[in-house]
Amino acid sequence: MSELLFGNCSLADVDASGALRFIADGLVHVRDDRIVFAGPRAQGQHLTQRLELLDMESMLVTPGLIDCHTHLIYAGDRLGDLLAQRDPDDPSRDRFESGGILATVNATNQASRASLATLARSRIDQMADHGVTTVEVKSGYGLSMEGERRLLEIARSLSGYRGIEVITSFLGAHALPTAYASRPADYIALLTKEVMPTLAAEGLIDMVDCFIDPEGFSASIVTPYLERASELGLPIRAHVDQFGAAGGGELALSFGARSIDHIEHLSSAALATARGSGTVAVLLPFAYLHKSLTSIPPIMGLRDNQVPMAVATDLNPGTSPTASLLLAAYLSVTLYGLRPVEAFAGITRRAAEALGLSDRGRLDPGCRADLVAWEVGHPYELVASVFDRRAHRLG
Ligand code: NIG
Ligand code: FE
Repeated sequence: MSELLFGNCSLADVDASGALRFIADGLVHVRDDRIVFAGPRAQGQHLTQRLELLDMESMLVTPGLIDCHTHLIYAGDRLGDLLAQRDPDDPSRDRFESGGILATVNATNQASRASLATLARSRIDQMADHGVTTVEVKSGYGLSMEGERRLLEIARSLSGYRGIEVITSFLGAHALPTAYASRPADYIALLTKEVMPTLAAEGLIDMVDCFIDPEGFSASIVTPYLERASELGLPIRAHVDQFGAAGGGELALSFGARSIDHIEHLSSAALATARGSGTVAVLLPFAYLHKSLTSIPPIMGLRDNQVPMAVATDLNPGTSPTASLLLAAYLSVTLYGLRPVEAFAGITRRAAEALGLSDRGRLDPGCRADLVAWEVGHPYELVASVFDRRAHRLG
């Protein structure tokens, strides 16, 4: 049995109602990697008599951060897409992939398993340095049985690296592979009848994701895919209505989605349906910034309808080349108008909810002790300014 007591620290997390819980002089008692007590020093005096105090030197202790939406495993670099727009004559342009998601699919399918894992580990290194302890990782750059299986297997193999747990999402319905050009229903049938059930039976899929958007799949085409996920008992989440309204929010909500992600063009009907559904809105403001989008998600409507909001990086080479969850949180405040407390909740408690994880993202007794400490005095310094914050992992 291992027992630890951290003190001389402040503590911060968010309660179920979304209010900040900040304790200026706190203690955290951990036993066997679970939180036993996290609260004011005054309420834990009995612990200080029994256990040696680990001095946190006035740092702020928070739950480990949770990046609940990433496309972490890929090869190549899509700076070519940006150069094509900004400087098409730049002679360096050929060094980079361009041509949207399919360009990354090609680069990824050509890369070896070992090189994909190495690239992914370097991205996880950055996340770990910035306080992430749980990351969701999508497939979606394979677009075939073998390609998708390989990405999900790599994702599974990465779980535990730097002490970060990986949760997988099967994103076969990300883009239409060239071999199925103009036959989206046939591709969805392949995913629905063969790829999804096979990879689910192999234990590779924690959740099922899809891209419902004018630039992705239509709601009607993707419906059988979501039906199959439901039949298989797999939780659903979806990229919806990012570049335009596609009825993605409505469809995902009709399947009881765990999360609806992006939602720059979510309809007001979907917003009303989301109320009380338990579905989390996952905001990805770095993608909004990188793609120079102009319509922000309906933040006021989400608040009015009490839809929980999570914030994630969307780490991917095309629309969101960043591993910085704190930067995403900052952008949710500056671009989307989130309150700092909402942004902090969005990368902790609400992100856990988006992944269906009830054992983390907060400092309650019984939760995993995947704690991180920061050299700041208050959590808003983490989400409302941009400095290169290094997190210290406890335990
Ligand atoms: O979440 N929207 C679709 N998928 C990704 C982009 C992936 C890519 O462009 O490679 C996203 O933004
Ligand atoms: Fe995404």
